[in-house]
Amino acid sequence: MLMVTFTSHSVAETLSLGAAWGREAQAGWVVGLVGDLGAGKTQLVKGVAQGLGVTERVQSPTFTLVNEYRSGRLPLFHLDFYRLDTWAQFRSAGLEGYLCEPPGVTVIEWFDRCQSWITEGLLASPAGRFRRVVIETCEESSLGLVGLPGDPEPERRASSPPAEASAQAGPSLAALAGIGAAARRDGGRSGGDWFRERIRLIQYEDSGA
Ligand SMILES: Nc1ncnc2c1ncn2[C@@H]1O[C@H](COP(=O)(O)OP(=O)(O)OP(=O)(O)O)[C@@H](O)[C@H]1O
Ligand SMILES: [Mg+2]
Repeated sequence: MLMVTFTSHSVAETLSLGAAWGREAQAGWVVGLVGDLGAGKTQLVKGVAQGLGVTERVQSPTFTLVNEYRSGRLPLFHLDFYRLDTWAQFRSAGLEGYLCEPPGVTVIEWFDRCQSWITEGLLASPAGRFRRVVIETCEESSLGLVGLPGDPEPERRASSPPAEASAQAGPSLAALAGIGAAARRDGGRSGGDWFRERIRLIQYEDSGA
């Protein structure tokens, strides 16, 4: 299977990659996104939405599990498996229809939380039906946990980091938020490069390719 690596240096580059995918997307396409908290999964979904011509605001469906945006060229189904722990929860949420030839484009955050046999089945599906995407943050920074200015979703990261994320977090989130507030007050200068955009490695492979 051919693995493609895209290096994003900014949010804008991540958005434009997603937008290119949105422009070429066809109904039935499923995209599974894998990456840590703050990796840029939602930014990529925003790009796909742009490329499809979606005008609604794109937000992670953390509590609802799925958001549907219907203002674009094709319906966009935005799923988030972050809170799915068991196969029973997956079944009772009735999500199968979004994974098997959806009548639009399905993009899933925290895709790796679903059972591995689903991933294997999707990867074996007809060429180009499924794209598995892994986003890695270069230059690791624990500040990623509190998000950047204008980040709409820092609450989830601050309120419920998974055990491994909090173990790596180092200084307390409150302390980091304090640094962030100080950096914001003086336009970010004394905070050094705390809020600088960071490089993301976005690797992806297509089913059947
Ligand atoms: N090159 C980049 N591409 C994407 N986002 C970037 C980049 N550099 C910095 N960022 C920042 O990283 C954050 C990515 O947030 P985003 O909500 O997309 O992450 P996520 O993977 O969806 O996290 P979560 O698991 O909490 O849903 C944003 O604050 C964005 O500004
Ligand atoms: Mg997200």
